Amino acid sequence: MCGIVGYVGDKQAAPILLDGLKRLEYRGYDSAGIAIHNCCCTNLIKIEGKIKVLEEKLGGAYPEGHVGIGHTRWATHGRPSDVNAHPHTDCTGDFIVVHNGIIENYQELKEWLQSEGHVFKSETDTEVVPHMIEHFYDGDLFETMKKTISKLEGSFALGVISRREPGTIVAARKSSPLIAGLGEGENFIASDIPAILQHTRKVYILEDGEMVKITKDKVEVTDFEGNPVAKSIFEVKWDAVAAEKGGYPHFMLKEIHEQPRAFKDTMAGRILPEKGEIKLDDVHLSKEYLQGIKKIFIVACGTAYHAGMVGKYVIEKLTRVPVEVDIASEFRYRDPMIDKNTLVIIISQSGETADTLAALRESKKLGARVLAITNVVGSSVSREADDIIYTWAGPEIAVASTKAYSTQLIALDFIALYIARTLGRICEKDFQEITSAMKNLPDQAKIILGHEDKIKSLAQKFSDREDVFYIGRGLDYPLSLEGALKLKEISYIHAEAYAAGELKHGTLALIEEGVPVIAPVTQEHLFEKTLSNIKEVKAREGFVVALANEGNEEIKKSVDDVIYIPKTHPILTPILAVIPMQLLAYYAAVARGCDVDKPRNLAKSVTVE
Ligand code: F6R
Repeated sequence: MCGIVGYVGDKQAAPILLDGLKRLEYRGYDSAGIAIHNCCCTNLIKIEGKIKVLEEKLGGAYPEGHVGIGHTRWATHGRPSDVNAHPHTDCTGDFIVVHNGIIENYQELKEWLQSEGHVFKSETDTEVVPHMIEHFYDGDLFETMKKTISKLEGSFALGVISRREPGTIVAARKSSPLIAGLGEGENFIASDIPAILQHTRKVYILEDGEMVKITKDKVEVTDFEGNPVAKSIFEVKWDAVAAEKGGYPHFMLKEIHEQPRAFKDTMAGRILPEKGEIKLDDVHLSKEYLQGIKKIFIVACGTAYHAGMVGKYVIEKLTRVPVEVDIASEFRYRDPMIDKNTLVIIISQSGETADTLAALRESKKLGARVLAITNVVGSSVSREADDIIYTWAGPEIAVASTKAYSTQLIALDFIALYIARTLGRICEKDFQEITSAMKNLPDQAKIILGHEDKIKSLAQKFSDREDVFYIGRGLDYPLSLEGALKLKEISYIHAEAYAAGELKHGTLALIEEGVPVIAPVTQEHLFEKTLSNIKEVKAREGFVVALANEGNEEIKKSVDDVIYIPKTHPILTPILAVIPMQLLAYYAAVARGCDVDKPRNLAKSVTVE
């Protein structure tokens, strides 16, 4: 996730672009840059760090010019650095591009362009675009863009300027947000409304497959074939702060809703069904190495630890390699039994959690190979691990982790499939079954988000309670732990999760009339067993809300209410089932008037032990 902005008009472009970028910083902030045209030259300034660093570099001496594009980056391909920062240019410097998204086929395009003599400066996927424009340019930037984007796979919001056609910005959208802002004698492009809200409240919201050519007096929207599209103007009614949250009242809710998109990005280019392979660019575990592995450790904190618990189940099931999950703050103080035959998987959204980082270092010291799952390119964890899977969920601003968690689960499924495939422990049929089910996850997540009102009213029902219990078996147990953590951290309701069979070993004493119990029953082979535990709760007059797969009518008879999720492969259910858990916690916290995005006593990145 990155932010792009573009301006063409009578005013100086640089201050408008820098202001717009600051308002897009929530989309990424590891590097930034602007490119400004004036009558005789183009100035391109880019640097690692936040917009503030870019401003410091400019030192108040903004480049002059009335046309420009800008970018604030959240690294995916290529670590944060000056050279990987956007905008990117072709060999001549004539074509300048900003991009939000992932070009999935960039590797093959890069090889082709290199064979044509193009010289690349950065490690990014984006840089193929200006070189392709250079290659195809026929005197018409708009036509050249059409040709270029027809060759791109993946997601993009692109903004392009060229000194060969000064006064014009061409932009295109596929699966990454893009708007055009309509001003008086000036027009804009941007990833999101806050970037331009200072200047206009009139926008076109571009759809996938649309592109736009803007000059200071004209905004022309077409499809990718160049056929004009009649757009209606969207009048923005929100204030700037609401706009930054995309109209959502909190970042947490926005991030919950971003999961369909985040799932797509995490999976982008990684499933190769025709080859029956999982492609993980920064993972290099050979067959010989994996054959020597005696054990896998998964080490993490908090929500990431819960992801690890799901990972243990999935990896053991698919690979038959034993997996141990450990809390990072415990791991290194208990003299862990690891050596060169141990693979350690470290999970950390931020990549900076002190305990997790210490566990990574301890593992390496003991001779283990470390594979990290992280959301932040260039983080300490990503720099120090031997192998990395980025979750590509985009920046997570709310303290309570949501989209980072569900995409960590996808990454763990990829690891399980990768190892199982390399060791020949999964047959083609099972591989295809799981990977094709994975592809449905974004649409299925959207269906769950469509049940938001029902989940909200359920959350309101128990929001005044002091205790809530979660019970689940198999994969529903770590799901319950995650549901309980989410609820307690943002609503301050005391919430505890149990393996459902454990309830009768003590905790059942706490169940009395009206005590809310959330009971996921997504694991069909364990349904009857969990149902017995639900009945034990109902016999004590607890208030049970079940979370079940679509089509499970049986459960209705034994509980007070049911939230349904679409059916997927059993090992993938936690990815979907966590969404109602997140929404329950969110709406309970809202009902109690809590500061959802910044819960008391907590911080987003825990850099102390
Ligand atoms: C809870 C939450 C925390 C983090 C934990 C680890 O919603 O976000 O429990 O999961 O602090 O953080 P990372 O993943 O950044 O290492």
